[in-house]
Amino acid sequence: MTKLDTVLSDTHGRRITYLRISITDRCNLRCTYCMPKEGSAAWLPHEEILSYEEIERLSAAFSDLGVRKIRLTGGEPLARKGVEGLAGRLAAIPRIEEVCLTTNGILLEDMAQSLFNAGVRHINISLDTLIPERFARITGRDMFNNVWQGIKRAIETGFTKIKINAVAMKGINDDEIAALAGLSLNLPLEVRFIEFMPVGDATTWSMARHLSCDAIKDMVEASLGSLTPVPHGKNFGPATIYTIEGAKGTIGFISPLSRHFCGTCNRVRITPDGRLRLCLFSDNEIDLKKQLRSGASRNELAGFLRQAVAQKPLGLVSLKNETPHCARAMSKIGG
Ligand code: 5AD
Ligand code: SF4
Repeated sequence: MTKLDTVLSDTHGRRITYLRISITDRCNLRCTYCMPKEGSAAWLPHEEILSYEEIERLSAAFSDLGVRKIRLTGGEPLARKGVEGLAGRLAAIPRIEEVCLTTNGILLEDMAQSLFNAGVRHINISLDTLIPERFARITGRDMFNNVWQGIKRAIETGFTKIKINAVAMKGINDDEIAALAGLSLNLPLEVRFIEFMPVGDATTWSMARHLSCDAIKDMVEASLGSLTPVPHGKNFGPATIYTIEGAKGTIGFISPLSRHFCGTCNRVRITPDGRLRLCLFSDNEIDLKKQLRSGASRNELAGFLRQAVAQKPLGLVSLKNETPHCARAMSKIGG
């Protein structure tokens, strides 16, 4: 086996096969749980952001080391020009089996077809409410309809997996749990409820707003009837998935706080300014941009990445009773 074939793994025996790349910290929304209020958000300067060429080089090095799935995130990834071209080039890297993205859906109606043509088949769309006024309050923009049209267009375009990410927040959208879950009855969507997480110092997280996935699941079952578990597929992630009999779609629950899944974590993240983040809840970041810009060869880069990834911390288990904490804003990590 050549050095390049060695797979990435950490000192806890976890294999890293999934890379999340945040391609921009900019966003056309200002969700209260993610971003500081308008005005206080200082965007990263252009020269700090990895170029598409640098992202491609990095992705090729990661694919040499066993990464098979890449997700583009933001900020809002569709807000960076030329993202379709990037997606196409990443999809063409040997051994990369899947390039997907997470979007707020605002620009999706116009871009769904070109993303599909670039090879994207799976797409996650964030949507926390079906009430337009509430959407405006949560995201700071009166654009519910843009997202809804984007979702409809994605379904028409034929993406094979469309997930809706809803952050469940007590006192904000907990009266809509059943309505959101109910989307899965008639539409081929996976509606996923995500527990509200304490990410970024400037957001509105508090334990009083936290709703556990067990509580959310009870609310869904009380309104829509019993949920049947769906077995995990090949690229299984942290969600537990259920379906309601006769439904076109499924319902998922992601419970990072109440039942964490760090033991099977297979992912690392890259921030828009080229830092490797080994765990959402560890602010210990490794500078990859410096490596890329110092002209490291593919081989050297691979060696550096292997050593860096080995340091991936255990995750929430190691925090014991401390409240998990993440200083970087979610908009500069990408979820
Ligand atoms: N807690 C949970 N999920 C969050 N997201 C953003 N901020 C938070 C938070 N504090 C989600 C968004 C999006 C994904 C990228 O991360 O809803 O779907
Ligand atoms: Fe933008 Fe997504 Fe953050 Fe909302 S959650 S502000 S859509 S990056």
